[in-house]
Amino acid sequence: MRTQVGIIGAGPAGLFLSHLLSREGIDCVVLEAKSREHIEGRVRAGVLEQGTVETMHALGLDTRLRRECMIDNALDIRFGDGLIHLDLPALTGGKHVTIYGQQEVVKDLVAARIAGGGPLVFEAEVLELDGIEGTTPAIRYRHAGGEHTLACEVVAGCDGFHGICREAFPPGALTTFDRIFPFGWLGILSESPPIREMTYVNHARGFALCSRRSPRVSRHYVQVAANEDADAWPDARFWDELRVRLGDGADELVTGRIFQKGVTPVRSFVAAPMRHGRLFLAGDAAHIVPPTGAKGLNLAVADVRVLARALGEFFRTGRTERLDRYSDTCLRRVWKTVRYSTYMTSLLHRFETHTPFDRQLQQAELAYVAGSPIGGAMIAENYVGLPFEDE
Ligand code: FAD
Ligand code: PHB
Repeated sequence: MRTQVGIIGAGPAGLFLSHLLSREGIDCVVLEAKSREHIEGRVRAGVLEQGTVETMHALGLDTRLRRECMIDNALDIRFGDGLIHLDLPALTGGKHVTIYGQQEVVKDLVAARIAGGGPLVFEAEVLELDGIEGTTPAIRYRHAGGEHTLACEVVAGCDGFHGICREAFPPGALTTFDRIFPFGWLGILSESPPIREMTYVNHARGFALCSRRSPRVSRHYVQVAANEDADAWPDARFWDELRVRLGDGADELVTGRIFQKGVTPVRSFVAAPMRHGRLFLAGDAAHIVPPTGAKGLNLAVADVRVLARALGEFFRTGRTERLDRYSDTCLRRVWKTVRYSTYMTSLLHRFETHTPFDRQLQQAELAYVAGSPIGGAMIAENYVGLPFEDE
């Protein structure tokens, strides 16, 4: 098989890239290690920035999203005796966020790609990349019991944090930056109507978050130990803990059957540069951020917008200027997002290592944000999404 761009991974990064490239008239093949059922069932993020929604709109992929999404115009933060209410449109010149599950985005992008006849091969596990320093790289993969080769001109490594593309960089070519927080998030989905506003909670027992997926499905999280076993949390224990952490906010809480449960690590990781020769990394393959900013999926979309534009220029004109600055352009946004996600993580979690001084400082930061339109606007403008650069 032969194509212009070989895309490894059918997560948000790979799927968005395939649609953006098709719009530019560029041929691509997507190779995905797992089955369609597997990737469509993976429960992950749910908060979409306006830029992500606009990208779906520009691609004509937002029909179901428009019908089923929820628009969030506010973000609440509860702490001590205080409540910070951020009116997003008022603080950001009219912006908001959209609630629509990552697996719904994935389903829509997969369905459209298959309907458009674009090659998307499931259960195709990439084993190795050859020739990324030349002009004709090749991707070796296993599919249907045999080994195959996809010849291409460019490889897009969209294979997530545990993929193989980062490892294809020669020794010494990558610098990595890593911070692992000493806790995780236990996340659940329940059959119950969500509370009115998206609510982050700083409580002495730890962070909590009340989110939603639809008017009838809630998505909630509580901070737990990094190695926590989700099975140690029967439904009653989860609801009791969430109620305690919500304090006065618990009056609104409606409980229901919990039908999904899992623990997510809280970690930052950045690999730089995001390109070596003809291999370009995008999304979680290059960087992950703590979930406290709700940014992972949105950052993946921002990367592939830059990459698609640069590849468009390259295949149309042969010019490489945009490709040459791909990594720098993406990393500026990545580091701003790491900064914001780290700020929110530090502001809202319980840290065993905190001294009484640190705890006072955390409460003072929350009280400052509560009383300062500028402090609130900083959170709001990052939460709705920073503007795109270099477009
Ligand atoms: P992925 O979605 O990981 O996609 C990579 C794809 O590559 C996968 O489908 C994988 O199967 C495939 N692949 C890997 N190796 C190979 C190979 N060798 N050959 C072929 N295919 C391969 N973000 C938030 O904003 N909020 C959240 O609440 C949140 N929760 C999360 C919970 C979990 C458990 C995880 C893991 C992530 C969470 N994230 C969250 C982050 C967000 O989901 C990611 O940032 C987003 O999925 C990144 O998209 P991606 O396409 O870069 O990577
Ligand atoms: C979610 O709805 O899953 C969600 C919301 C906000 C976050 C993280 C996850 O910061």
